[in-house]
Amino acid sequence: MDRLTVQNNGKPCYEIVFTQDFSGLADLISSLGFAERRIAVITDSNVAPLYLDEVMGAIASLPGDHCSHTLQAGEEYKQLSSVEGVYETLIRHHLDRHDLLIALGGGVCGDMTGFAAATYLRGISFLQIPTTLLAQCDSSIGGKTGVDLKGYKNMVGAFHMPRLVYMNLKTLLSLDDRQFLAGFAEVIKHGMIRDAQYFTWLLDHRDEILSRDIGILSQMIRRSCEIKRAVVEEDPTEQGLRAILNFGHTIGHAVEKFLDFSLYHGECVSLGMAAAAAISVREGLLAESEGNRIIEGLRSFGLPVARSFTEEETGRILVLVRSDKKADGKQVRFVYLNGIGNAVRKEISEESLRFGILSLSER
Ligand SMILES: NC(=O)c1ccc[n+]([C@@H]2O[C@H](COP(=O)([O-])OP(=O)(O)OC[C@H]3O[C@@H](n4cnc5c(N)ncnc54)[C@H](O)[C@@H]3O)[C@@H](O)[C@H]2O)c1
Ligand SMILES: [Zn+2]
Repeated sequence: MDRLTVQNNGKPCYEIVFTQDFSGLADLISSLGFAERRIAVITDSNVAPLYLDEVMGAIASLPGDHCSHTLQAGEEYKQLSSVEGVYETLIRHHLDRHDLLIALGGGVCGDMTGFAAATYLRGISFLQIPTTLLAQCDSSIGGKTGVDLKGYKNMVGAFHMPRLVYMNLKTLLSLDDRQFLAGFAEVIKHGMIRDAQYFTWLLDHRDEILSRDIGILSQMIRRSCEIKRAVVEEDPTEQGLRAILNFGHTIGHAVEKFLDFSLYHGECVSLGMAAAAAISVREGLLAESEGNRIIEGLRSFGLPVARSFTEEETGRILVLVRSDKKADGKQVRFVYLNGIGNAVRKEISEESLRFGILSLSER
């Protein structure tokens, strides 16, 4: 089994395991010392019919009691009330603080299960079994957990590291194309911010990626996990460096809100990355040819890079940029590219932000 170890504060903390089925799960749970413990598998209403039976079957040989809880699928249910439902299941099945939760699903399920694990009895252990591309390459690694509150995304949460991230890459085959591509936006972002060679590799393997060739997906997911791991290991609680993962997210998040979540997060990040590339070119950090490669690269995968906004709409998007919780007081810290593969963070003027948003209309 292919594995990566993630460190926290300089010490090995958990492993990411890359496989193509669930057959290794029970042994890994045993090796972590949970063979006899109660286990609750938390999933969502789309993933349950696809994989819940398989996962329950894969752990059935372990002697402890096992139960499951199915969340309503969708970001709109990423709320404290859904987490309360999880607590109720855990209480009903008598889970104590030595027992184990498993998050089986995308980033929404992972974030909520992680948050339930961080808070139930002041913290119990949990595993991630991410089943979306976004969750495999991004949200399952790094220990950020949480829920949305009153329209503010991830407003309430905790850092709580998983004990294991178990990836069955074959689960990606049941994702619809739009979800798969939205996750890919975060993958290509990893190339843009940290690894120019990887960015080129992704463009060179476009057809295999889009047809979900499992061999190419394994290489891709492993490299993306290595990049995410390197960033979170250097900065586990987002004091500085980790913020480069927000490349494309300053404008992306504002557009996501402005469009009332009618586009997927990854699609908005794609628009945000296209805008950030244009801004980086304008500031003289990125060569025009590199800016074009980024935009054409996103476009070649079918990700959005253009969207018309009027002056008035741009003004409203700018207000949303400033109200984002990641904006530092009045100043907005922006992630630029100082060449492909090299993200830098510094303040940005309102005029540059406006230029970036309007650049999306001109394509
Ligand atoms: N914790 C972090 O560091 C972090 C990082 C990035 C994003 N996030 C969070 O992740 C969330 C987005 O995650 P997501 O894009 O995975 O969304 P998601 O969990 O809503 O999954 C997307 C959709 O795909 C379905 N699905 C999941 N796996 C499937 C499969 N294998 N086959 C078919 N359908 C499947 C889900 O039911 C859902 O309808 C957001 O809430 C975001 O805030 C967290
Ligand atoms: Zn994102």
